Amino acid sequence: MVSIRNFLKRHSSDPVRRRKALNKYFERRVRRHDLHLYKAHLNWTLSDELGELHREWGDMPGIPPDRCYFLHAMARLIGDRQVPGDTAECGVRFGKSTFFLLKALNDPGRAHHVFDSFAGLSEAGAADQPMAGIKAWQQGDISVEEQQARSNLARFPNCSFYKGWIPERFGEVAERRFALVHIDVDLYEPTRDALAFFHPRMSPGGAIICDDYGFASCPGAKAAFDEFFQNRPEYVVPIPTGQCLVLVP
Ligand SMILES: C[S@@+](CC[C@H](N)C(=O)[O-])C[C@H]1O[C@@H](n2cnc3c(N)ncnc32)[C@H](O)[C@@H]1O
Repeated sequence: MVSIRNFLKRHSSDPVRRRKALNKYFERRVRRHDLHLYKAHLNWTLSDELGELHREWGDMPGIPPDRCYFLHAMARLIGDRQVPGDTAECGVRFGKSTFFLLKALNDPGRAHHVFDSFAGLSEAGAADQPMAGIKAWQQGDISVEEQQARSNLARFPNCSFYKGWIPERFGEVAERRFALVHIDVDLYEPTRDALAFFHPRMSPGGAIICDDYGFASCPGAKAAFDEFFQNRPEYVVPIPTGQCLVLVP
């Protein structure tokens, strides 16, 4: 009876009714596989602005909508509060996180620096070995041509590219201060090196976000954050999307 009622609602001409019924239907189905669906009535799932940005970005791969939302929201807060400094990212790939971050800031006067090997991941170490059943990273995974990322981000003249293995090119921005740093390199060593470089250069009120903290596939990124902040005053705040956040006092 319940499923007939839900079936009828899923075909309702009322979009709100239809959306809720579809959400209920898929929620029941994915739960059988130990998966979870976000609620249909969460604000960010309805946001016109984010929907427009997803349409503008199109089908190219990159971080999923929930993580785009969090990054976008944090960048908007940093911009609105006028936290001084540049912004930076380690791990760019096609540039999707960069796109959402720079759209949220909407500030061509603020420099953005992106660091990537554009040759994929570096070699995984002992800290990066995932639990049984999860695929381990291989050197060169998820590699994208620099030109592809440059062309996707060509609309942002304030975005500078630093191709190379982290931390090789950090020295070129050693004199800068940072309001927001996004780290998404999946592995222990480049995450550790990014924290060691950027943390002392953060402005008060700035934020560091890691895309990889809560993923069973990226134990090294979590280890790097936990180690680095173990004896520092900041908390590493885990976000249910898999990201984590550190607010700099
Ligand atoms: C998961 S992808 C980044 C995804 C991107 N933030 C997005 O929005 O889709 C990880 C990126 O980190 C880069 N990377 C991994 N290890 C690196 C290292 N040691 N040095 C430089 N870049 C690295 C890879 O080339 C890859 O582009």
